[in-house]
Amino acid sequence: MMASESRSDRQIAVTFQRLDPAAGDELIRWLASDCWPFHKEPKPDPARLAVRLAEGFFASEDNQTFWILDGAGEKVGVIRIMDFSDEVPMFDLRVRTDYRGRGIGAQTLRWLAGYIFSLPGKIRIEGQTRRDNLAMRRTFRRCGWVKEAHYRSVWPTADGRRVDAIGYGILKSDWEQGTVTPVEWDDDEGLD
Ligand SMILES: CC(C)(COP(=O)(O)OP(=O)(O)OC[C@H]1O[C@@H](n2cnc3c(N)ncnc32)[C@H](O)[C@@H]1OP(=O)(O)O)[C@@H](O)C(=O)NCCC(=O)NCCS
Repeated sequence: MMASESRSDRQIAVTFQRLDPAAGDELIRWLASDCWPFHKEPKPDPARLAVRLAEGFFASEDNQTFWILDGAGEKVGVIRIMDFSDEVPMFDLRVRTDYRGRGIGAQTLRWLAGYIFSLPGKIRIEGQTRRDNLAMRRTFRRCGWVKEAHYRSVWPTADGRRVDAIGYGILKSDWEQGTVTPVEWDDDEGLD
């Protein structure tokens, strides 16, 4: 950010457009042309992506993918919703490197809650991220998601290590009421 710029100057308003699976090649090129440092595959392989596309990884009964578009219609991000037919969907969110830190992640999590919770039968949404993915963790927190789990040494890295992952969730009831219900962590009473 330049010294004369404020945070609000840099915010970008976005809209969401369902992926047309017939145009999946564009998604493959898009994903393969950027770097995703906190994903297991920071530089996704187009051939593997093509296999996943054919298998319904991006569009099927249980998977939905949306482009995130800026005001000019530029594709600045992608959100894939998983376990879509379940009461508790999950998601993967990616914003292009040049567009990160400009409010797109937070807008997308808010859009996601509105979209999912307007559907019948959805009770909560879950997401996981690497412990060191501070941008994603701050995005969760900013949007009222609650840390619900800390998984030790589980998330695979590109160099073969396993790092901690953090689980977050948002309840439909909290979303409806504008509340943030904390986890009751001190619940060991009666165990000894
Ligand atoms: C993680 C990601 C989706 C966040 O989206 P974004 O558009 O960059 O985030 P926003 O601009 O909406 O900012 C949301 C919060 O994150 C913080 N943030 C943004 N970039 C950050 C960074 N590099 N380091 C630390 N915090 C950061 C913002 O300050 C804000 O927090 P605040 O309200 O407490 O100040 C985006 O950075 C991204 O796509 N990263 C690569 C892919 C990825 O890691 N996806 C998550 C997979 S689980």
